[in-house]
Formats: sequence, C-alpha cells, structure tokens
Amino acid sequence: MQKNDIIRVQVTDLSHDGLGVVRHEGKVFFVDNALPNEEIDMRILKLAKNISYGKVERWISQSPYRQEDVALAYLRTGIADLGHLAYDQQLLFKAEQVRKSLSKIAGLKESLVLDTLGMEQPLAYRNKAQVPVRRVNGQLETGFFRKQSHDLIPLSDYYIQHPEIDQLINTTRDLLRRLDLKPYDEEAHTGLIRHILVRRGHYSGQLMLVLVTTRPKIFRIEQLIEHLTKSFPNLVSIIQNINDQKTNVILGKAFRTLYGSPTISDQLLGNHYEISAQSFYQVNTPMAEKLYQTAIEFADLTPSDVVIDAYSGIGTIGLSFAKHVKAVYGVEVVKQAVEDAKANAKRNGISNAHYQIGPAEKVMSQWLKDGLVADVIIVDPPRKGLTESFIETSSQMGAKKIVYISCNPATMARDIKYYHQLGYQLIKSQPVDLFPQTHHVECVALLVKV
Ligand SMILES: C[S@@+](CC[C@H](N)C(=O)[O-])C[C@H]1O[C@@H](n2cnc3c(N)ncnc32)[C@H](O)[C@@H]1O
Repeated sequence: MQKNDIIRVQVTDLSHDGLGVVRHEGKVFFVDNALPNEEIDMRILKLAKNISYGKVERWISQSPYRQEDVALAYLRTGIADLGHLAYDQQLLFKAEQVRKSLSKIAGLKESLVLDTLGMEQPLAYRNKAQVPVRRVNGQLETGFFRKQSHDLIPLSDYYIQHPEIDQLINTTRDLLRRLDLKPYDEEAHTGLIRHILVRRGHYSGQLMLVLVTTRPKIFRIEQLIEHLTKSFPNLVSIIQNINDQKTNVILGKAFRTLYGSPTISDQLLGNHYEISAQSFYQVNTPMAEKLYQTAIEFADLTPSDVVIDAYSGIGTIGLSFAKHVKAVYGVEVVKQAVEDAKANAKRNGISNAHYQIGPAEKVMSQWLKDGLVADVIIVDPPRKGLTESFIETSSQMGAKKIVYISCNPATMARDIKYYHQLGYQLIKSQPVDLFPQTHHVECVALLVKV
C-alpha cells in the first residue's frame, strides 16, 4: 500500500467528527463523505502509523441513510458536517458517541444512555450566525470556510440558520458591495470588513448585527444603518467590533454600539434575558430549553435545596429554577457574563441567586472554606471539561447529586470516571440534539452519591 493507490474497501463506522472509518491491512483510514456500510474505491491520501486518510474515488454501493437533499448534504464541506446523513441516524450516532465514551474512557460496562432528544424540524434552528467576508472572483462575498481551510464558499441559504438571519446577512453583503466597502484580505492583512455576526431572539424576533472590522472608521456607515433599519424593522442593535490582529479569533476586544441597544432581549423557559454580542447563549433556543428542563428533572429539586450553578454564563440555567429552591450560587469566569447574570436575576424578580466571578475551581474551594453546603451541583463547563481540583472540591461539599451538562462526551466520561472514584455513581445520561446536521453532541448526566 502506498500513497495514491486506489483500493476497494468497506466503510465500517463514523468517527466522532463524522468521517467514515475504514480498517484495512492493520491501518485505520478516515474518509470524508463516506458512511458506514458503503463500499468504495478509496484513494490513499496519507499513510501513517496511527492515522491514515483516504478519499472516495467512486462508490460501489451507497448507504440507504444518505441525505437525499443534495444542497444540505453539500454543507457537509463546511457548516454542517453531518449534513450527508439522514437525521434519525444522526440521533443514533449521537447516543452512540456518549455510550462509547462512557464505556471506553470511564470504563462503564453498563451506562444508561437514553435515546437522543431530537428536533421535529432539524433545520433553520440557529439563532446566531458568524460568517466571514472575503473577496472571491473579484467580488465581496459572504459564506462559509471549507472545512480545515480559509477558502470562502459563497452561500445565500445556510439551511441551519433562521431564514431571517440569512436575509440580513445577504442584504448586508449587497449593501457592502454597493457602498464599496473592502472585504478583509487575510494574507495581506488589508481591507476593512472581516466578519458579520447576527443574533436573533427566538421568541422576541429581535435582531442584532455585528460588523467585525480591522479599523474604527467605516465609510458611509450612516447609509448602511439607514438602509438596514428600514428593511428590517426588528433590527434593534447594530454593533461594531474592532479586531486589528492577525488571528483566527473572530472578535477583538473593542465593541461600539452604532445603532440602538447594545443587547437584544429574548426568553428562555419563561424568563427574560438581555443578550450582548459577546455573551455565551445556546444557539438553539427550543432545544436549550429541553436541555435545561432535563437537567432540572434530573436534579429533582426541593424547596429547601441549595444549588450551585457552575459555569453559569448569563445565568440561564440557575435562574430557570431559582424560584423553586432555597438559593442558587453561580460561578463564571467572564466579568460581563456575571454582570449580565445579576441583571437577569433582578429583571426576573429573583433575589435568591448569587453570582461570583472567577475560575470555578478557585471559587468552589473558597465556598468550601466558607462552609457552603450544596445539595445539588450543576456543572456546564466548556469542551475541556472539569479540573481534578473542581471534582475533588465539589465532592467534598457533600452534594447528593451532580448534574453534568456537557458538549464533549470524551471529557465528560473522563470526569465521570473520577467522580466514580470519589463515591458518585452515574445513574443515566440524556443526549439532547442542540446542533442538528453537525457532529456536535450535547448531553446531561446524573451522578448520585452512594
Ligand atoms: C458551555 S458554557 C455554559 C454557560 C451557561 N451555563 C449556559 O447554558 O448558557 C460554559 C461557560 O463557562 C465559562 N467558563 C469557562 N471557563 C471557566 C472557568 N474556569 N471557571 C468558570 N467559568 C468558566 C464560559 O465563559 C461559559 O460562559
């Protein structure tokens, strides 16, 4: 076997990031756009000791679970990396990812993984978009970067975003062209407009547009604002973010409100929230509500419970149940988010939710020293999961239940393994599909002290 050889093989599995897996003569190949049970002629792209890569030259047989909508399947190359797989199979794939992680990483022989909660209409769900602005064939374009590249593929229908978000992006693109504003050129580090971000309140319908620019001055900005606000009466916020760095990070540090309010408002499980351009806010509102509801059900709260909401963001989880418990203690590292959480508590008439800024692991050990006793600890960390010190401190607090919300089954399984050693048992886990058409898996797990 050598590079560029074409071999006939069977695809046996899907990797965690949605690539077809082929096992051949002791090697494991990852193949884009290949589904389990497909027979393919595969060209070898890269041959290495551990991980090799191949490419489909020709299908001998195709999976019956291949997505029939060709345009959606095409988005596999960028924003929807499972767009080529039928939705019911995506849901099975996600539960399987959780099962595999719990068995391989946490060593659990029996892990109760429930069926993934999915969407009835798994399209047009995103309440947020961030699209690059570049020049393609001499023209300013918006679209998506092809996977693992910075090649912009122009696009007008993004399928997984709310259609009004697509309309606002396309209208802004047309205006930027007409006003002759220059798109960013990454290589030369020249041009003005780098990215367009849009947020839309699921219930309120309010829109926010963020223009990420390399410099403060935007020529003819008044015309842009006038046109956009006339075309979109629910556009209540236009923000500029300045990012002059040579970096892949989308947002810079400086924000400026160009029009209207610095935030949009929306609802989640009946509470009102103000959301700013940089706040963490789940991108799929109805499924975020299902996720939080599941976490609340798992926690089985009583009026005398003291609950820690760790990695609390703008407070959306804790504030959803604060009125039904004795007290909520939230911890979050981003200052703006903590201020937002406090304001959100006030806005919703909640006085028993307290927020502390700082790294969760440090604040938890301070709370432990201060004698805080928690009945339930809810954690919702970023992809890297918890630290060992957080796990140790939380178990020393004597909580009867830990409810773990995770966007990465691998780190969740690693952390559950440690909780096991400290006397907690996994009771069940519930995958919830917040990101249809992509490989991303969100999950809630319940751990109980034994
Ligand atoms: C997955 S988000 C969850 C936010 C919130 N629970 C929600 O559902 O909207 C993770 C949050 O953890 C915060 N974070 C990241 N590292 C942290 C740390 N070491 N300590 C506390 N918060 C942290 C992030 O700023 C982010 O708001």
